Amino acid sequence: MSPIRRASRARFARPAIVAVASCLVIGGCTPESTLWPSGAGADRIASLSWFLIGVAAVVYVAVLATMFVAMARNRDRPRDGIDLTPGNTRFVSLGGAVIPGVILAAVFVVGMSIMGAFPTQPPANQLTIHVVGHQWWWQADYDYPALQQRFTTANELHIPVGVPVKVLLTSADVIHSFWVPRLQGKLDVIPGDTNDIRLLAKQAGTYRGQCAEFCGLQHAHMGIVVVADPPAQFAKWATQQLRPGAAPNDSLTLIGQHVFVGGPCALCHTVRGTPAMGTVGPDLTHVGSRVTIGAGLMPNTLASIEGWIANPQALKPGVQMPPNTQFSGFELRALASYVSSLK
Ligand code: CUA
Repeated sequence: MSPIRRASRARFARPAIVAVASCLVIGGCTPESTLWPSGAGADRIASLSWFLIGVAAVVYVAVLATMFVAMARNRDRPRDGIDLTPGNTRFVSLGGAVIPGVILAAVFVVGMSIMGAFPTQPPANQLTIHVVGHQWWWQADYDYPALQQRFTTANELHIPVGVPVKVLLTSADVIHSFWVPRLQGKLDVIPGDTNDIRLLAKQAGTYRGQCAEFCGLQHAHMGIVVVADPPAQFAKWATQQLRPGAAPNDSLTLIGQHVFVGGPCALCHTVRGTPAMGTVGPDLTHVGSRVTIGAGLMPNTLASIEGWIANPQALKPGVQMPPNTQFSGFELRALASYVSSLK
């Protein structure tokens, strides 16, 4: 392999390896596999997949067996002697039309019954999460029946284990697709329309998801994390999310907060409890508690936050956040410390 090809392969392979490794090790997520279900919706999809794989395997073996029998039986027949006796046409119509028709009809009926069972009705007065797709991140509004319980977060959903959660999907810009393979099938996220999906996690865990509809330059970096917590732990998380952003706890984070609120950050981001009330970018009130930053792009560390603030275009080219060359090294460190302290 030429040095250029080797270098370009390394250039693409390295970020992919880092992304998967950071998700597995730091995020504690499991691989995104439809065939490893952990939710009610994903269970049905996995059963359908195995049924289809089984049917396809049987058909494949039967077709191959028929072909080999035909080859063996007709080895000595002259090449131009096509045999169209009634017995043979019956075999062709049976094997070429009737049997495939029956198999396809059965697959259709099973597929439709599973599609029909897609939504799982949540109990009345339950939590509804409004998920809004943005280029290239996810906004999540937790819409409890009581107004004072509602809050907004981004890129990381928490849901209680064993409770069906209603998720309403819409988009602020282009068509995205919400897909957390181990929990549920994918569903389009369409501007001006609302789609309805249920998430029901059977086991506690961290489930990675991905935008599944090409939505522009950073479609591949539009990840989402769904954390399924035992109900008591979920309630604790929700209570924490309701609180305003943590107050600065030392002089560095205090300076960081001043820079954040007085600078361009506040125009796009919200930190509840401060004058920063921008709605263009993700709500950062508790960003320090999330597993990743940049919608699944990097593990959430002080260094990655600092690098992200300095030049998001270098890390996620095309993202809507501009580079911030105006900050000094000290201001960057202070900003990153403040953002990181927002647990
Ligand atoms: Cu959003 Cu692809």
